[in-house]
Amino acid sequence: MSKTVFRLAAFVFTGLAATSATAAVNFEKEVLPFITKKCVDCHKAPYTENGQKKEPKAGLRLDASWAIIKGSENGPVLTAGAPDKSSIYESVILPKDDDAHMPSKGEDLTKEEIALLKKWIEEGANFGGWIGSTEGMPAGAQTEATKPFKPRAHDLFFAALEKEVKPVADADLEKAKAAGAQVAPVKIESPLLRVDFLTGVSKCDDSKVAGILPIKENIVQLDLGRTVITDAGLKMVAQLPRLVSLDLRQTKVTDAGLEALTGLKKLETLNLYGTEVTDAGLKHLAKIKSLKNVYLWQSKATKAGVKQLASAIPGLKASIE
Ligand code: HEC
Repeated sequence: MSKTVFRLAAFVFTGLAATSATAAVNFEKEVLPFITKKCVDCHKAPYTENGQKKEPKAGLRLDASWAIIKGSENGPVLTAGAPDKSSIYESVILPKDDDAHMPSKGEDLTKEEIALLKKWIEEGANFGGWIGSTEGMPAGAQTEATKPFKPRAHDLFFAALEKEVKPVADADLEKAKAAGAQVAPVKIESPLLRVDFLTGVSKCDDSKVAGILPIKENIVQLDLGRTVITDAGLKMVAQLPRLVSLDLRQTKVTDAGLEALTGLKKLETLNLYGTEVTDAGLKHLAKIKSLKNVYLWQSKATKAGVKQLASAIPGLKASIE
């Protein structure tokens, strides 16, 4: 019993670490909601209340990206990459009895919110296309935020896939969830989905994978790592036409199972860490020309096999150690 608890704790921990190490903070989804709730009442466009004109406190508006970049009457409040040079961050970590502590009234930011704000600034304070209020926006203001948002190559790729699919029906989503799958859009309001079984990897067998087939058109990322699936499960995975990223780490899949995946035309990332896969399996993978990254650490593949795979797919990165 105690062993199970320990394993679970270790697992949850690695899961969290992986998230904070990889996923970039999404401003609109993760930061804007608490700024709006806890800051914007005092830091928004001028308005009139009971015949009195109200100005934003310290001349600082937090209701638009261009306004946040512009700063307060005292100058900039945000320095991309440097939370310690950003009063928007420094003010929320000041002791509560400090006059400059923010919010000066009302509910404080939680530890999680403060951590998100910090990480977002560290990552470059990317507003991801969010503009917010355009009231009072200087004409022709060409700040970073008002320039048309240039998506990264991967976003463009997803945008193309997004056009091909409709959002999944609620009933189909419920079927997948009933099989134990956690389903989330890859980004806000996208019909493309990310699926994992992280809440019950030891219960996720081949029959559970069948449970996600009703939403197969929309799945682009699938994490089956550490589940108890076998090669039979891969026959179902092979039916996901838009699968871009597949995690099979520490599963029982073998070379024979990988053959089923050769029909996946969009697959770019495949994690086979800690599997029994050998060079024979890599020969099947050589047919998936869309592959860009294959992880083979602690598999049975050899350097020679990896070299052959890399020569079959130009630009492929295959890591074995
Ligand atoms: C109840 C009103 C109120 C709320 C809510 C509030 N502020 Fe303020 N804020 C003020 C006032 C008043 C000042 C001016 C303080 C001063 O000059 O001493 C100020 C000043 C600031 C400044 C300094 C601007 C400068 O350069 O002088 C920053 C940064 C700031 N607030 C950020 C925030 C953030 C972030 C939040 C939300 C977490 C927030 N504020 C919530 C009232 C508020």
